Amino acid sequence: MTKPNLLSGMQPSAASLHLGNYLGALTQWVQMQNDFNAFYVIVDLHAITVPQDPKILRDNTRRTAAQYIAAGLDPSKSSLFVQSHVPAHAQLAWVLNCITGFGEASRMTQFKDKSQKGGSDNSSVGLFTYPILQAADILLYQPTSVPVGEDQRQHLELTRDLAMRFNSRFGETFVIPQAQILKESAKIYDLQVPTAKMSKSAQDPKGLINLMDEPNQILKKIKSAVTDTDGEIRFDPSAKPGVSNLLGIQSSLSGEKVSDIEARLKNQGYGALKAEVADVVIESLRPIRERTNELLEDSAELDRLLAKGAEKANEQAEKTLKTVYENLGLVMAL
Ligand code: TYM
Repeated sequence: MTKPNLLSGMQPSAASLHLGNYLGALTQWVQMQNDFNAFYVIVDLHAITVPQDPKILRDNTRRTAAQYIAAGLDPSKSSLFVQSHVPAHAQLAWVLNCITGFGEASRMTQFKDKSQKGGSDNSSVGLFTYPILQAADILLYQPTSVPVGEDQRQHLELTRDLAMRFNSRFGETFVIPQAQILKESAKIYDLQVPTAKMSKSAQDPKGLINLMDEPNQILKKIKSAVTDTDGEIRFDPSAKPGVSNLLGIQSSLSGEKVSDIEARLKNQGYGALKAEVADVVIESLRPIRERTNELLEDSAELDRLLAKGAEKANEQAEKTLKTVYENLGLVMAL
């Protein structure tokens, strides 16, 4: 039986992925690679929608690939590749730009947030059309499932709308993909501002746990995590966002149910909770950090793996793009 396709991706916009990327996306990618024909992309063309230093971008792209593998993605099972190695992403994005309404694109909340922070003169047109390139990333691979964190829900809705619109105007072309969002770890919050999602652009670096952080850094960050003053270990995201975030992280990494952790640590105070969370985070990330560093020592081998992934990706992407061009009425090159 052929397996259904799956696609997901991350931006190479930092030297390290963070705990939100790991729990919201990567852990489910690792599990799903057995049951799906999976494509995992490093979206370097998305990373250039904001200013980038060329040397750092190149370095972060390889570092992201190494972290994918170190976290458990197996290049012999899934296709791991770099977006710019597959020209069809930019080609399909153009086609989709032409069926997206200006107002529709203007409603994307991530663009609104990012452009408000930087001011509209500093926001590129690439940042504006970012979600349309994302739709192209997805639709080229005809995936049934796209495993992501909660913050990608709106982009997935746009992707589905564009796929349905294209299909109804030009005939069945695209599979309509489903967002696959984990309930427990859909959104990991900043440790210092536990009402904001954990993000690489955190205001205070103590709010963000990186996969490449050393154990003593992790310990310090978790010890200084913002909680509240009532001292009760209880999962209640609206009244107790900091404590609930720690409970969610602990539960996702250990597999223990939140209610069991609450019962076990009842009356023990936040110090005990933080000590446990620090321990499980340190021990979960240690092998990933170590393996990433090993992989980065042989960047030629990493590049070979990415080239192999791009070969498989190109094959699938070219096939979809050809159907798109034909259905659109473009004259096919001889
Ligand atoms: P990016 O690079 O910001 O994040 C990568 C993945 O990590 C998830 N994530 C989180 N999950 C839980 N809690 C958090 N605090 C948290 N922060 C990030 C994201 O939901 C995502 O799944 N636009 C995408 C990249 C992209 C993409 C795609 C994704 C481009 N093309 C095609 C899927 C399919 C982004 O910026 O993700």
